[in-house]
Amino acid sequence: MKQLSNRHILLGISGGIAAYKSAELVRRLKDHGADVRVVMTAAAMEFITPLTLQALSGNPVHTTLLDPEAEAGMGHIELARWADLILVAPASADLMARLANGRGDDLLTTLCLATPAPVALAPAMNQGMWRDPATQANIEILRERGIALFGPAAGEQACGDVGPGRMLEAEQLAELAAGLFQSRALDGVKLCITAGPTREAIDPVRYISNHSSGKMGYALAEAAADAGAQVTLISGPTQLPCPERVTRIDVISAQQMYDASLEKMGNCDIFIACAAVADYRPANVEEQKIKKHNDAMRIELVRNPDIVSAVASHPKRPFTVGFAAETQDVVSYARDKLQRKKLDLIVANDVSDSRIGFNTDDNRVTVIGADTEQHIEQMSKRQLARQLIALIAQQHREPAD
Ligand code: PMT
Repeated sequence: MKQLSNRHILLGISGGIAAYKSAELVRRLKDHGADVRVVMTAAAMEFITPLTLQALSGNPVHTTLLDPEAEAGMGHIELARWADLILVAPASADLMARLANGRGDDLLTTLCLATPAPVALAPAMNQGMWRDPATQANIEILRERGIALFGPAAGEQACGDVGPGRMLEAEQLAELAAGLFQSRALDGVKLCITAGPTREAIDPVRYISNHSSGKMGYALAEAAADAGAQVTLISGPTQLPCPERVTRIDVISAQQMYDASLEKMGNCDIFIACAAVADYRPANVEEQKIKKHNDAMRIELVRNPDIVSAVASHPKRPFTVGFAAETQDVVSYARDKLQRKKLDLIVANDVSDSRIGFNTDDNRVTVIGADTEQHIEQMSKRQLARQLIALIAQQHREPAD
């Protein structure tokens, strides 16, 4: 499916070593069906030539604001109106600072000011520049103005540093750009998501729990609401604010999450189980705080009900998606859970890698269906959630035979 068919993408390129990836990005955007026009800053032309981008895009490349010849063709206001999306990749720290200050001192920043279209930035810079408070403050301003940020990824950088600031890969950027246009993919769909940990009380002051922060489930809730779904988030205890346009039901224990899920599932089309539910709970909850009389103590545990299995086995089951948190043989264990729990899809999460999974900002997953397997590279949970929601929406609409 060409997700960007007939879309006009204005690709802005600012000065940075990641500009070499922009050539590939033009190709990926065109593969997705987009009509691409390129605008380069003066610094970008130090890294890659306009000729390369002209050849790849099939359109003249725009480089200066005050060029009578270019203005005679497609003037800058016309160009700003032509765009369905302005994607700046790479977006340097300097470019973002100028945008945050509302500057229009070259063609690219002028277009960002003039356009009625959404603007997305793919930051690329040294990790120190990314972490600098000035850059972070600029990002906050840009986010508040509704500018989308794609990335950056973390990892080894061209300068030898390791950390956040790498531009996302071309295919990821093309997918994210496509995601911006798919925001009605779940119009009219009712969706239920479990998120966060559960707490299983031992006594009035102690409990058994796990490291789930709720970030992944909340990001899914936000992405689903952005895609037009009516979202109910059944959440264990977290520190996170409820995303806008999402109804949250707060629970503490697995039994409470089970009860809320079974009550809501009758009125939902898609159920996503992202919560890290405690598999066991203490058989007895002491009424008073347990005293430290002995050197050792034993707590008898009993099995909690399996929420996602109960939902998926229900005669009026919704389209049901589970997660699998695994530390070894991730895909084969996840596939086993897909079958055992009778799920439509399962999202396999390698939680042995401390950079992803529990209580991290990033994740990397493999989405497994009866006959399908799709890997999604490491990126922020919010970006990943958008990709997952697009995929789930598509599978829900057109289930595999
Ligand atoms: O919250 P974060 O810090 O962002 O971390 C995200 C995450 C790592 C928690 C998330 O990505 C994830 O992997 N969630 C599933 C965690 C888990 O409990 O996996 P599991 O393999 O033990 O369970 C398999 C599936 O059964 C899951 O969909 C789980 O929600 C569900 N389950 C498990 C037990 C139970 N009693 N009821 C259930 O519904």
